[in-house]
Amino acid sequence: MKKILVTGSTGYIGRRLVENLLTRSDLSLRLLVRNIRKVRPELTDRVETVEGDTFDRTALSMAVKGMDTAYYLIHSMGAGNDFHFLDQQSAENFRDACIEAGVKRIIYLGGLGDAKTTSRHLLSRMETGRILSAREEIQTIHFRAGIVIGAGSASFEIISNLVQKLPVMITPTWVKTRTQPIGIQDVVAYLTAAIDLSTSDNLVVDIGSAPLDFRTMMLQAARVMGLKRYLFPVPVLSPKLSSYWLLLLTRVPYAVASALVEGLKSETLVLNDNAGKYFPAIRPMDYLQAVELALREMEQDQVISRWCDSSAGRTCDVYGMDSPADAILRDRRTVPFSGLSPEAVFRSACSIGGGQGWFTYHFLWRLRGFLDKLFGGYGLSRGKRTSRDLRIGDALDFWKVADLQPGRRLLLLAQMKVPGKAWLEFEIHPDRLIQTAHFNPRGVWGRIYWYSVSPLHNLVFADLARQIVARAAQLEMDSQT
Ligand SMILES: NC(=O)c1ccc[n+]([C@@H]2O[C@H](COP(=O)([O-])OP(=O)(O)OC[C@H]3O[C@@H](n4cnc5c(N)ncnc54)[C@H](OP(=O)(O)O)[C@@H]3O)[C@@H](O)[C@H]2O)c1
Repeated sequence: MKKILVTGSTGYIGRRLVENLLTRSDLSLRLLVRNIRKVRPELTDRVETVEGDTFDRTALSMAVKGMDTAYYLIHSMGAGNDFHFLDQQSAENFRDACIEAGVKRIIYLGGLGDAKTTSRHLLSRMETGRILSAREEIQTIHFRAGIVIGAGSASFEIISNLVQKLPVMITPTWVKTRTQPIGIQDVVAYLTAAIDLSTSDNLVVDIGSAPLDFRTMMLQAARVMGLKRYLFPVPVLSPKLSSYWLLLLTRVPYAVASALVEGLKSETLVLNDNAGKYFPAIRPMDYLQAVELALREMEQDQVISRWCDSSAGRTCDVYGMDSPADAILRDRRTVPFSGLSPEAVFRSACSIGGGQGWFTYHFLWRLRGFLDKLFGGYGLSRGKRTSRDLRIGDALDFWKVADLQPGRRLLLLAQMKVPGKAWLEFEIHPDRLIQTAHFNPRGVWGRIYWYSVSPLHNLVFADLARQIVARAAQLEMDSQT
């Protein structure tokens, strides 16, 4: 049995990798996670877990102890300007802990790019690879990928949002920069196959399908979706303007949009042939196939992971955020129900947001979402990973799931721009739903905000609680027919 440690297993790539590794009976898995509650309950008896992060040396030593191979699928991009320093520190800690524990191989996924021309973010990804492979006591397989195409990947959501919304687009010049996109299934296949590689050398393995520019990717995606689109490049759209443009039209926030735009200012092409040489059995699918698979996963409402799964910061945002007990201001609604199961009410509460919307006052929610986007927040456009299934850490419009106790409690932590800390809680009792909006105001502005929006809360929150119960009744009727 090979012993494998996966870090970053609650992120976009890591979640999918773990699903794939679990199909192999010759592997025993351990996950290092910042918040153990983000691991699916069904997984906890199939994998070992260690809670902690790469800045916590004790947790790190426990995580790497006895492991043969360790995946490093971590970045600090959400940590603001400090990201470069944190990336370095995290990689050094990880490498040294692996060496001390006698781990034989580190497998790392970073980004494609040329160090001379690339963005600061991609440079930091390259630097991470260099640090991980800097000592000869341990081998590092460093994969480098460009744009990853898959349901829930930020790049694919940007492409699909743009082509769905705009029949005619004026486009900035960076849409003509070439990259080599790769399907998420191929990324996972390479990462998995790297466990069995029989070489002891450090390797940098560039992966990708045929070179394409962003413009062609949009046009081809439109064709797969059955849409006709027209793109007109203009030289006047600066990267900053482009990022604002993506912020307004797509589901991603400014930081993610600008990282993509910066990354596309110079070419991100495969610079070595190690993928073909060391992994001849993997033939990366072409871009169109990757788009088709991504769309199918979305249509089947079975998206495994999304770019907003991780907390994208040094501190896990939902960690320790599952108790709004200290909040000062509250809006509480109680809706009694009889003849309904608490499970149906819970399912109904979990169905809010995303494509389903927010019931009668949807336009007020949309207005709040629009204002949030305008001030640099997520707005409502982030939606949901799937309509049916929630897990802790999932994004839900401008909320994140902070607690989920089936049949009993759903707690959403607000990630909208708001002068304080806010939660929306649904507690399901055998005979009633208690819905509470909790708010911890920041200074006097926080209080002014709360009292000035309370007339709207009166409409929106009262309606929300009533509609959740009404919809639960509908759900029960549907399940009986
Ligand atoms: N996604 C892509 O399209 C893409 C493309 C090319 C390359 N890559 C590379 O693939 C790797 C993984 O990216 P991703 O997109 O999967 O990232 P992601 O979705 O943002 O996930 C990051 C993961 O790392 C964890 N994490 C962050 N800092 C940590 C720390 N200090 N200690 C322990 N865990 C920590 C996060 O945990 P929490 O859940 O607690 O936040 C999360 O599980 C990165 O190196 C990235 O450059 C990704």
